[in-house]
Amino acid sequence: MERKAQPEDCSNDLDPDYFPIPPEAAKAMNTCYIASTYSTCTLEEISAAAPGGLRWFQLYVHRNREVSKNLVQRAEASGFQALVLTADLPYTGRRRDDIRNGFRLPPHMKLKNLEGAFEGDDSSEYGLPPNSLDASVTWNDIYWLRSLTQLPIIIKGILTREDAELAVRHGVQGIIVSNHGGRQLDGGLATIDALVEIVEAVQGRAEVYLDGGIRKGSDILKALALGAKCVFIGRPALWGLAYKGEEGLQDVLRILQDEFRLSMALAGCASVSEIGPHLVQFSKL
Ligand SMILES: Cc1cc2nc3c(=O)[nH]c(=O)nc-3n(C[C@H](O)[C@H](O)[C@H](O)COP(=O)(O)O)c2cc1C
Repeated sequence: MERKAQPEDCSNDLDPDYFPIPPEAAKAMNTCYIASTYSTCTLEEISAAAPGGLRWFQLYVHRNREVSKNLVQRAEASGFQALVLTADLPYTGRRRDDIRNGFRLPPHMKLKNLEGAFEGDDSSEYGLPPNSLDASVTWNDIYWLRSLTQLPIIIKGILTREDAELAVRHGVQGIIVSNHGGRQLDGGLATIDALVEIVEAVQGRAEVYLDGGIRKGSDILKALALGAKCVFIGRPALWGLAYKGEEGLQDVLRILQDEFRLSMALAGCASVSEIGPHLVQFSKL
């Protein structure tokens, strides 16, 4: 699909043919892009936008399991390299800002991966039936996912050592310590505070990543020092896109990378392998 130039402003009046594609920026910056189940481009379009890029697919499990099975198989067939199962959204949190601002997807944007999946029932503002997610998902559903795909399974939304232990016992290859950017359970733990006990519980049996509140290179340094293998960003990517499309996202990634390098140097680390818990001093209060 031909893409048009970035519109001058960020109003809701976007050109329907314009869509910024983050995977291109992620590939250009040699980093990983996680595509959402609720992406407004199809998995196949995302793959075609950045062939050879590192990309994972984030799954929300729907009540109609055939819908989810189909998505998992499409992701694998179109070259996604891992499956990220989001575990902290049995229901959508109460997002007061979205309610106050009357947030809706602009009419020309659709949840394209799910088009046709809920034919005849598009009663919510996202074009999905309300409560279409399966809130009864249990740990055993990881075995169900395993039966559908060869891809590594990563679980997103873990905040305690107990859940980390269960995740590893059920055979996941990775854990994203996440509170969904604070958009789900109000008052949930900050991810940086949850990280240490999760890394201790996992003991290298799975990779541990973190997202939430990464805004500066020194935030990355702290997360790595406390045992995260890498970090992800949510909102900063959106701010870059709103500012200047793909170029704006590359700017965000470059700033984070530069600041991370600088923080490493100022902390006396010549390589990532030198980053460790010795860099962080805990408050004794
Ligand atoms: C607008 C918006 C949409 C999001 N959509 C999804 C989603 O579809 N699936 C998901 O697992 N997480 C979703 N998240 C959560 C992010 O994946 C991530 O956990 C969070 O944004 C990280 O925090 P940060 O924004 O402080 O970097 C969304 C977050 C935002 C702000």
